[in-house]
Amino acid sequence: MSYKAQPTTCFTGIEYNQNLLALNRWVRSATWEGLAEPNGNVSEEMVKYYADLAKGGVGMIITTCMFFDEERNGVTGFNQAGLATDEMVATHKALVDACHAEETPVVAQINHSGAAAPPFPNLVRQVFSETVPPMEMPHNVMTIEEIEAIEDGFVQAAIRCKEIAGYDGVQIHAAHGYLVNQSLSDLTNNRTDKYGEDRTLFLCNIACKIRAAVGPDYPVLMKLNGDDCLHEGELQIEAKGHTIAQSVEIIKKLVDVVDTVEVSGGSQIAGPKAMPIRKGNHYKVENQGYFKEYAKAVKQAVGDKMRVISVGGIRSVAGANQLIEGGFCDAVSMSRPFIAQPDVVNQMFADEGLKIKCNSCFKCMPYSFQNKVSIRCVKDLKE
Ligand SMILES: Cc1cc2nc3c(=O)[nH]c(=O)nc-3n(C[C@H](O)[C@H](O)[C@H](O)COP(=O)(O)O)c2cc1C
Repeated sequence: MSYKAQPTTCFTGIEYNQNLLALNRWVRSATWEGLAEPNGNVSEEMVKYYADLAKGGVGMIITTCMFFDEERNGVTGFNQAGLATDEMVATHKALVDACHAEETPVVAQINHSGAAAPPFPNLVRQVFSETVPPMEMPHNVMTIEEIEAIEDGFVQAAIRCKEIAGYDGVQIHAAHGYLVNQSLSDLTNNRTDKYGEDRTLFLCNIACKIRAAVGPDYPVLMKLNGDDCLHEGELQIEAKGHTIAQSVEIIKKLVDVVDTVEVSGGSQIAGPKAMPIRKGNHYKVENQGYFKEYAKAVKQAVGDKMRVISVGGIRSVAGANQLIEGGFCDAVSMSRPFIAQPDVVNQMFADEGLKIKCNSCFKCMPYSFQNKVSIRCVKDLKE
C-alpha cells in the first residue's frame, strides 16, 4: 500500500525499508492500553483507539506489547491484546484496516514478560536463571528446549502479524526488564550453557528466525535498551545489567537482520530512578530525550545501515529537531503524550511552540492498574 504524503513543518518522511514509509519522523512508541477483550482478542473500542491515533498525524504507530503464549504466560497487563492463535490475530485485522484507512503504517510489538509478569493467578514465569530477586510467584527455569520453544513463539507471532492481520512490520520487545532483556543481563541470566555463555544468543536467534520466516523485505524492528541503567537504581548489586557496550555488539551482529532499532533504557526491577518511564520537566528542550546518548552511541555504530529511533521524554518539535539534527537518531517516538492527546502530532505541526498536555507525571499507568481501567490521562487527579 502507499501512504499519504503529509505536509510537515518539522521533518519529512523516513523510509524504513522499501515497504514501510512513515509519514513523518514521529512514531507512537508501544503503549499498553488495556482495551483488548480479556481473552486477548482486539475489541471494537481498541480499534477506535487506534483509528483516533492514526487520524492524529503520527508517522507510524507501534501497538501495545502483545503476548503469544496460549496459556498467557508472558502477559504484562490485563486486557492485553494477544497473538497466540490464528483466530486471535484475525481479530487484529480491523485495527490494521482502521490505521490503513488513514494511510498510517502500524507495527505489532511482540513481547514475553518472563520474570516481570504481573501478579496474576495461574501464570508461570519463565526465567533464565534463579538469580532474579527471590520470586514467590510460580516460576520455571527454562531448559534449552523451552527457550527454543519461546523463540519459535516469537516467530509464529510474527508470521501471524504479517499474514493474517496485515501489520506493516513487527517489533521485538528486547527492553525494559522483560524476558529478552532478562536474557541479556547478568542480573537475570547466569546460565552456564550456550544461552549464558553468549547472552545475546536468545535475541539474535529470535531476530534471525523471524527474518528467515518473513522474508527480506518485511520490516523487522527491535526495541532495545541502550543500557539497563542499574547504576542509577537503588539495588545494591554487583551486576551491571545489559550495557551500552553490549547494545553496540548486538547492533553490529543484527545490522543485516533488523531494519530499525528504537533505543530505550532502564529496568523496572532496579527502582524508580532506573525506570524506563521517567518523571521530570520535559517541557524544557534540554531535558528531552533522556536516553539520547544511548541512541547516539547506537547511531554512530550503525551509520546508515539501520534506522535509529530515540524514545524518552521527547515533547516538542524543538526537542525532536535537536535529536535528529544533532545526529542522535533518524526518528523520535513518544508514548505518554498520545494518551493525553491522540492527535498531538497534528497539534504540534499546527503550532510548533505548543506546550502539550502531557507533563510526564506518570500517574496514568498506576491509575489504570489500581482501578482496573484502560489507560487515560489523569494528570489533574488530586493525589
Ligand atoms: C501506559 C504505558 C504503557 C506502556 N506500554 C509499553 C509497551 O507495551 N511496550 C513498550 O515497549 N513500552 C511501553 N511503554 C513505554 C513507552 O513506550 C516509552 O518507552 C516510555 O513511556 C518513554 O516515553 P515517553 O516519555 O514518551 O512516555 C509504556 C508506557 C506507558 C506510559
